[in-house]
Amino acid sequence: MRTPTEDGPLAGGTANRGRVIRVGATVQRPRGGHTPAVHALLRHLAAAGFTGAPRVLRLGPRTETLGYVEGRAAIEPVPDWALTDSALLSVGALLRGYHEHVSGFDGSGLSWQRSVPERWRGRLVTHNDPNPGNVIFRGGQAVALIDFDLAAPGTPAWELAVAACLWVPLRDGADIADRRRHRVVQRFRLLLDAYGADDTLRLDVARAAPDANRWIAAVIEEAANHGHPAFGRLWERDMAMHVRADGWLAAHTAELT
Ligand SMILES: Nc1ncnc2c1ncn2[C@@H]1O[C@H](COP(=O)(O)OP(=O)(O)OP(=O)(O)O)[C@@H](O)[C@H]1O
Ligand SMILES: [Mg+2]
Repeated sequence: MRTPTEDGPLAGGTANRGRVIRVGATVQRPRGGHTPAVHALLRHLAAAGFTGAPRVLRLGPRTETLGYVEGRAAIEPVPDWALTDSALLSVGALLRGYHEHVSGFDGSGLSWQRSVPERWRGRLVTHNDPNPGNVIFRGGQAVALIDFDLAAPGTPAWELAVAACLWVPLRDGADIADRRRHRVVQRFRLLLDAYGADDTLRLDVARAAPDANRWIAAVIEEAANHGHPAFGRLWERDMAMHVRADGWLAAHTAELT
């Protein structure tokens, strides 16, 4: 058996920064009112044979304990290997696998942390926060989603729109300082190809993208307004970009569709 050598607070994350603790083959995180719903979801995924999500171990009064997923999350600064088309394709395939395995789960009547916009709600419980720090990679390929705190009933179009905002990323090239610059439309197509999206879904993803960008910005803004220090810093760094992305998306919807 492998001896755990990296116990202690895990790097990455904003909402629970410094409070996600590795203990051997487990991870302890703060729990909330939504955690029982998340655990029902994770237990369903395990029973369905999905290997791309953590196992549930315990629910305590203040913390949850999950299985540690071996690999590397693409935490900030996002490493170059996570900015490749190959990494993007693996994220699309991982989301497809997640949706296939979660499709038999009934999330209605459960208490989720945050609803997705009404237009994009459905019966599929989507992850809703596949940001690079919430995706575990092995050998440059996305193999697992972690941090299901924002999971809630949504639709494939909604999930892919959120993923596109985060991973393509859908924004003005002036706001992309790395190898992904000038490749936005191409990478949007690659993500949808990897998921196996049909024409109807592709159109809906493009239509959902402005709402997804605003939703991500709202998550940051609300927490910052409540005095959350790490979200406050993220707001300072990213809010102007989200506003510019809103304008960029309005001007480029035709191109994306
Ligand atoms: N089950 C797990 N297996 C492996 N690594 C994990 C696991 N859970 C968390 N981590 C690591 O800890 C980091 C922070 O965890 P987590 O995403 O749960 O924090 P958070 O603050 O809630 O994140 P966010 O800001 O996305 O809401 C992750 O980026 C990842 O590197
Ligand atoms: Mg996280």
